[in-house]
Amino acid sequence: MNSPQRIALRGDLLDFVDRPARAEPESPAVRFRPDHWLLIDGERIVGAQAKAPDEGWTRIDHGGKLILPGFVDTHVHSPQLDVIGSWGAELLDWLETYTFPSEQRFSDPGQAQRGSNAFLDALLAHGTTSAVVFPTVHKVSVDALFEAAQARGMRVITGKVLMDRHAPEALRDDVDGAEADCEALIARWHGRGRLAYAVTPRFAPTSSDAQLAMAGGLLARHRGLYMQTHVAENRAEVQWVAELFPQARSYLDVYERFGLLDERAVLAHGIWLDDADRALLHERGAQIAHSPTSNLFLGSGLFGWAEAEQAEVAISLASDVGGGTSLSMIRTMAAAYQVQALAGTKLSAWALLHTATRGGAQALGLKHEIGSLEAGASADVCVWDWAVGPLAQRRQQIASRLHEKVFAWLTLADERYLVETYVVGQVRYRRAGGEPGR
Ligand code: GUN
Ligand code: ZN
Repeated sequence: MNSPQRIALRGDLLDFVDRPARAEPESPAVRFRPDHWLLIDGERIVGAQAKAPDEGWTRIDHGGKLILPGFVDTHVHSPQLDVIGSWGAELLDWLETYTFPSEQRFSDPGQAQRGSNAFLDALLAHGTTSAVVFPTVHKVSVDALFEAAQARGMRVITGKVLMDRHAPEALRDDVDGAEADCEALIARWHGRGRLAYAVTPRFAPTSSDAQLAMAGGLLARHRGLYMQTHVAENRAEVQWVAELFPQARSYLDVYERFGLLDERAVLAHGIWLDDADRALLHERGAQIAHSPTSNLFLGSGLFGWAEAEQAEVAISLASDVGGGTSLSMIRTMAAAYQVQALAGTKLSAWALLHTATRGGAQALGLKHEIGSLEAGASADVCVWDWAVGPLAQRRQQIASRLHEKVFAWLTLADERYLVETYVVGQVRYRRAGGEPGR
């Protein structure tokens, strides 16, 4: 499925030039260029124009379709495709009953390789081209994921899960072995092509003080690493952390004490935080990876979007599969809207779409590379149907203003609307029968 070097994609181009307000349907931050040609030279976007480009470009005609930057999923678990939709549990028993047993299979290199390939192909088939990913505690699971990402040219940030307690024997590491594995993986993968390493303590309960200190040491020694973990997701979990770390002021403060918080820290959930926590997140420049389908499915709680925004904490959007119920960032946006509706805020389509693209990119410090259709950005681009089936077609015909169209789209759409996914200018997913006109 290799594409030619200089290609021009025709369609309705939608991206952002700035951050839109939370709840305004009209926004100067939105850039909509209907029926334009997006110009891609090799790996990069080089421009866009209304006029058809000359013969020097291979023209791919998706006229009447929607073209968006590839989605950025800032928190998702590669081995958890196998436990998506597991019944009847909250976080801690869900981990024990379903997730830990399933993750043990990734100790096998063949399983890790097949699982990583299937996982990244699934992301691409859902319109996600960049992701921050939890593999497992096993070193082979990290190598397999980086290799699979490299083969697809994807922007993937990941690292070995650290867990030296409160987990089954087969998923536990120890401080010295984990440190040696991390050092080897950082040397091998960090900064190679589009790949970056994230120091990955699973969450405070599964790492000893010594292991969290080791994680802080890695971050201090190697500039430019990311850090990913979970924080304040579930009330029983928060209570457990308070018992395990009685000296810490809060759950978040555990991570602060071990030097884990900076502008490259990605903290999933952040539901049960207080004002002091949010002030600290702002001060450190750390982001919350909001995972609404997971928060609903595991009954974890309603994320305080308005409170986080008020405290100027960066918010990104995440599927958190397998706690989350879909890899689709469209479904994730729709769930985020519903969670905030319950919490008393009506997010605009712009706030949602921005968070799933340019906002996520910005939170990761990658605004100039991913999340937009700006000249100079990587050509990570998806082509979507505006409507599939009579109900959605009717709804789109009735919609008059752009916000109404896009909001109805993100409420009704899912991965079946995806026509093509490009990663650094190469087609990496094409729907059966989705051959474009030329
Ligand atoms: N907290 C610790 N591990 C996990 C996980 O795998 N999923 C979710 N949602 N929360 C966690
Ligand atoms: Zn998670």
